[in-house]
Amino acid sequence: MKNELLGILDKRTEAYYEIPLYKDAVRAMDLRQIKAGSADFGVMSYDPAFLNTASCQSAITFIDGDNGILRYRGYPIEQLAEKCNFLEVAYLILFGELPNQTELNDWVAQITHHTMIHEKTKKFLEGFSHDAHPMGMFISTLAALSTIYPESRNVHDPEVRRLQMYRLIGKVPTIAAYTYRHSLGYPYVYPDNELSYTENFMNMLWRMVEPKYHANAALARALDVLFILHADHEQNCSANVMRAVGSSQADPFVCTAAAAAALSGPLHGGANEEVLKMLDEIGSKDRVPAYIERIKAGHGKLMGFGHRIYKNYDPRARIIKWAADQVFEATGRNPKLDIALELERVALEDEYFIKRKLYPNVDFYSGIIYQAMGFKPEMFTVLFAIPRIVGWLAQWQEMLDDPDQKIARPRQIYTGHDVREVVPIEKRDLSAALSGV
Ligand SMILES: CC(C)(COP(=O)(O)OP(=O)(O)OC[C@H]1O[C@@H](n2cnc3c(N)ncnc32)[C@H](O)[C@@H]1OP(=O)(O)O)[C@@H](O)C(=O)NCCC(=O)NCCS
Repeated sequence: MKNELLGILDKRTEAYYEIPLYKDAVRAMDLRQIKAGSADFGVMSYDPAFLNTASCQSAITFIDGDNGILRYRGYPIEQLAEKCNFLEVAYLILFGELPNQTELNDWVAQITHHTMIHEKTKKFLEGFSHDAHPMGMFISTLAALSTIYPESRNVHDPEVRRLQMYRLIGKVPTIAAYTYRHSLGYPYVYPDNELSYTENFMNMLWRMVEPKYHANAALARALDVLFILHADHEQNCSANVMRAVGSSQADPFVCTAAAAAALSGPLHGGANEEVLKMLDEIGSKDRVPAYIERIKAGHGKLMGFGHRIYKNYDPRARIIKWAADQVFEATGRNPKLDIALELERVALEDEYFIKRKLYPNVDFYSGIIYQAMGFKPEMFTVLFAIPRIVGWLAQWQEMLDDPDQKIARPRQIYTGHDVREVVPIEKRDLSAALSGV
């Protein structure tokens, strides 16, 4: 084995340290030995927003952001989207291998068996105002499931864990569909277990008075592919929340609620909703150049553009363009697509976006497809959350089984006051307190 050591000369003390490199990374705890004096705490690493810190080792998802590559368990996303369905990919992400037919049958049967939600959960949903944001309802209902399944707290029992995975993956489409029907004032539709995962979701969304729902096959396949594309994305903001909350050994329902809360923000999964608002604001193709100039002048961001990891075209955005064609053939073209295509064209030729390596991300086109399918923008992030449950659960399980992991607890660099005496209230000078003197 190569002798992989990093030499560090501490210019304060002239002491020299040799720090082992582990898979090209420095273990931050190895820096602690570097001290200016015996009373010194030792060197820490400072990395707000984890720009250059690996928080875990993971065998689930691989991203090469410079070359626009995404793989789940080694399989390119393009092949998975073309050759598999969502539940096959979910199995792969969670258990590491693609299922054979027997394993897949059993897996689908287990998930299908858990699609119903308790009537109490349904009543809980009924309590929301008709104009509640679907993502707020979704997050709260995930957390509320924890009260229905208290045994889920036993996170160290693999059988208990597996049962909660079945429940979560089975129930999220039901909860999502209920939030949608609730916001429209329609009665809830119970799951139909004769249908596939995505067809059943469409049934719960859109069945009205017909005795049996027949999904449009092209739309069902497009939705399934969109679910595959959104299933995991390694250590993103919500996956990190899932791991951080899960590290306290909280149950998976409250952990996924926390992860979904992280997803709801406009810089993460909430971006797809923002893209549609942006396209509405632009209104027509000819107004695109002026809008781009506004962004360059510092007035907001181009939503659906840019990524912390991808500094190239997001491979998911390419596949989404394919899905868009399938959907528009069934629904008719969404006129917003023309604005989006023009926005992409102008931005990709502009020095500002080229220099910063800003490309369309997964959220840029997904909203246009969802809108063509009939969803309101408020539902978009819920549609993202349904498949991402799989990624969160895989990250959570990997974290619990990882002997290197402990409760997540970052350090800080304290910048506040040194110790000081409390002054009795009648002697406190307001202006001095406000100025921090
Ligand atoms: C995704 C995102 C949060 C990544 O942020 P990040 O890795 O912290 O990148 P930064 O904010 O440091 O951006 C680097 C530079 O590009 C600019 N930039 C990043 N995204 C931009 C966007 N969408 N539009 C315009 N400028 C953008 C930043 O202003 C910054 O410019 P500067 O160097 O002149 O200050 C960011 O690109 C963004 O907000 N995008 C829009 C929201 C979105 O689509 N989110 C979905 C992600 S899947």
